[in-house]
Amino acid sequence: MTVIPITGCSDDRVDPRDRGLAYGDGLFETMRWHDGRIPLLDRHLQRLRLGAQRLALALPELGDIAGIVGPTLDRVSDAVVKLVVTRGVGRRGYASPDTPQPTAFLLVDSFAPRRPMDPRGLTLHWCETRLAIQPLLAGIKHINRLEQVLARAEWAGSVIDEGLMCDPSDHVVCAVSNNVFAVLDGCLVTPAIDHAGVAGVARAVLMDALDVIVRQVSRAEFASATEVFLCNAVHGAWPVIRLGGRALDPGPMARAAAAALATAGLPPDIDR
Ligand SMILES: Cc1ncc(COP(=O)(O)O)c(C=O)c1O
Repeated sequence: MTVIPITGCSDDRVDPRDRGLAYGDGLFETMRWHDGRIPLLDRHLQRLRLGAQRLALALPELGDIAGIVGPTLDRVSDAVVKLVVTRGVGRRGYASPDTPQPTAFLLVDSFAPRRPMDPRGLTLHWCETRLAIQPLLAGIKHINRLEQVLARAEWAGSVIDEGLMCDPSDHVVCAVSNNVFAVLDGCLVTPAIDHAGVAGVARAVLMDALDVIVRQVSRAEFASATEVFLCNAVHGAWPVIRLGGRALDPGPMARAAAAALATAGLPPDIDR
């Protein structure tokens, strides 16, 4: 992994007093690199700005991100680029410094295509870990991800590919690192992300491109879906072929989603 500092840090060193480390006081974006560009970059930056507004965090000048990582990725067709922005160094205690100096850096990593045990699609586990309700943080990609860390620790090995997460009232919110769509009563539905979860940029593309209903969905209703797929901005859309103990067929909506993401510039995983 290559670290590229933008501001407030040098080489691969971040100050131990950084509020990102102390409180998770910051934001991130995980983006795909493909053939010399970052698909959906505008949408990533839009979500970053929304997060900055919610956290009252003044974003530093980030520059041309694709241009910054370009020399590192010369001749690399696919990679993952993670942008991290924090409020920077602070004193002890939660109060923000009067004039925060944000920290920003990029992490450039290799791209590992998904390789599920069944190449037709993903096997999902119902996570025990719940997502807490916090409308102020819902939708944004802040760097507090302990719920996802706990949820991901619920399985090991290669039988399960992803976990589905619910809020405390048993409404489905999203997968551990993906958003989720389901066909319910013949309609394509994605859970509302207004009280918990991350509003993914891939999800946003699909909400623009397809006929999608956004609403609360209970776990019981979700379990009756005739088709389920996941999406994120690194791996695109993937059909779900097993949900808990139930087998599902990869269906036409997952294919339509993958095609819509490809049209928006996000190619499918290599080999698919
Ligand atoms: C918790 C969570 N939800 C949803 C997503 C999907 O978001 P995006 O489409 O922006 O990659 C991610 C991506 O990593 C995530 O970590």
